Amino acid sequence: MHVRIYNLTFGSQAFLAAWDAACSCGKNATMVIPAGTFVLGPVLFKGPCSNAFSPALEIKGTLKALPNFTGWAWIEFHTLHELAVGGGGTLDGQGSQCWGQGHNLPTTLKFQHVNDGTVSNLSLVDSKGFHVVFHSSTSVTACGLNITAPAHSPNTDGIHLSNSSHINITDCRISTGDDCISVGPGIANVSISGIFCGPGHGLSVGSLGKYADEKAVMGLTVRNCTITQTTNGVRIKTWPGSPVGIARNITFEDIVMNNVSNPIIIDQDYCPQKSCSSEPSLVQITGVRFRNVQGTSSTAVAVKLQCSPTKPCDGLHLENINLKLMNGAAAISECFHAVGMFGGIQNPSPCL
Ligand SMILES: *[C@@H]1O[C@H](CO)[C@@H](O)[C@H](O)[C@H]1NC(C)=O
Ligand SMILES: *[C@@H]1O[C@H](CO)[C@@H](O)[C@H](O)[C@H]1NC(C)=O
Ligand SMILES: *[C@@H]1O[C@H](CO)[C@@H](O)[C@H](O)[C@H]1NC(C)=O
Ligand SMILES: *[C@@H]1O[C@H](CO)[C@@H](O)[C@H](O)[C@H]1NC(C)=O
Ligand SMILES: *[C@@H]1O[C@H](CO)[C@@H](O)[C@H](O)[C@H]1NC(C)=O
Ligand SMILES: *[C@@H]1O[C@H](CO)[C@@H](O)[C@H](O)[C@H]1NC(C)=O
Ligand SMILES: *[C@@H]1O[C@H](CO)[C@@H](O)[C@H](O)[C@H]1NC(C)=O
Ligand SMILES: *[C@@H]1O[C@H](CO)[C@@H](O)[C@H](O)[C@H]1NC(C)=O
Ligand SMILES: *[C@@H]1O[C@H](CO)[C@@H](O)[C@H](O)[C@H]1NC(C)=O
Ligand SMILES: *[C@@H]1O[C@H](CO)[C@@H](O)[C@H](O)[C@H]1NC(C)=O
Repeated sequence: MHVRIYNLTFGSQAFLAAWDAACSCGKNATMVIPAGTFVLGPVLFKGPCSNAFSPALEIKGTLKALPNFTGWAWIEFHTLHELAVGGGGTLDGQGSQCWGQGHNLPTTLKFQHVNDGTVSNLSLVDSKGFHVVFHSSTSVTACGLNITAPAHSPNTDGIHLSNSSHINITDCRISTGDDCISVGPGIANVSISGIFCGPGHGLSVGSLGKYADEKAVMGLTVRNCTITQTTNGVRIKTWPGSPVGIARNITFEDIVMNNVSNPIIIDQDYCPQKSCSSEPSLVQITGVRFRNVQGTSSTAVAVKLQCSPTKPCDGLHLENINLKLMNGAAAISECFHAVGMFGGIQNPSPCL
């Protein structure tokens, strides 16, 4: 058990001492944060614990982050097995002072090298950076999380995944200023379901192809989600001029869109900044299914499949798509370098 303290403030010392005791305890332990409000600086809970199993952490009260620290994470769990975090409490990142001040602001809850974990039944508000991140982790479930930040808060993604496998995210309510959930490189066997998303930027794979040697996204299912008033619905985004990469075997099904700007979108020319490379993306997108997607689009183009001219998308499959404009008028679809099939209801008319 190693504990690193970046910034000791009221609350942190007691918090870490309790964790230390629970972690080195010979049998399974539960650490409880009682009702009440506690101010906490950045903390790192590093394992492994003495009996290999981590303490359960029950947060019943409200933890408030100090308003102005920097670093990768506020609360980080590292190298832990059988970790359970929950309790019905609230994590308030107090991010408003930092928003807009750079990109790598602290994540509220970060899980790194966590195997067999659960994070459930918590509210997260106003993170400085991303709210929840899973990196290099396996067999983790996130459920019953309510994540809220204002629509104008930049880079406050709800949940971000990278380099992880066998992750289930279910029954969460997410409204932020960025993606509700973003799935980065190195992902396999991920299932996302029962998410209420919006406002925000939607449920996204990517952005991919920013760095060389990114591992593939392989095996993702997004099911039974309701997306409301977001700038994108279900999206795959890759940078132009990217190195070679792979996104394969991705299914979006049983999705309801309410007044969403780009309900179905593959964007291989993703450029959120002023200018980007004029070269095409080299990320190969293969085997992507959109099935039973219905509801309303706030813009004319409800389906946009903009793939790379050098690596056209293949194996796309659209089935039972029923998207209309807010006033009931027909929407349209646009395809560029997209190859695949369609079946069932098709509104708008397919462009594949
Ligand atoms: C600790 O918890 C794990 C997982 O729930 C369980 O398999 C193990 O038997 C428990 N150990 C003790 C000593 O209670
Ligand atoms: C945070 O704010 C406190 C009080 O205003 C100040 O003492 C401290 O130096 C600040 N820390 C950072 C990292 O800016
Ligand atoms: C969430 O936590 C609260 C407070 O501890 C508890 O009453 C409630 O049953 C929990 N809900 C779930 C779904 O576990
Ligand atoms: C999340 O929001 C739902 C719906 O408002 C509510 O039933 C649930 O208790 C909330 N969960 C937490 C952890 O606050
Ligand atoms: C990805 O995760 C694996 C397994 O947890 C780990 O060995 C590897 O170092 C991680 N890679 C990166 C780039 O974090
Ligand atoms: C995720 O859900 C699938 C299907 O419900 C289940 O088979 C799998 O065991 C779950 N994985 C975890 C890590 O809970
Ligand atoms: C996903 O998990 C299943 C069952 O555990 C396994 O057979 C399959 O190889 C995995 N796929 C990937 C890409 O890891
Ligand atoms: C779909 O998600 C909703 C909301 O979380 C849930 O109540 C419902 O049981 C889910 N339906 C299926 C078929 O999974
Ligand atoms: C596709 O991904 C799903 C999980 O989302 C997995 O169960 C299935 O085995 C994968 N299929 C192939 C051909 O890799
Ligand atoms: C639809 O969304 C737009 C913003 O994208 C908003 O201005 C408009 O009020 C919304 N319409 C309805 C009926 O909610």
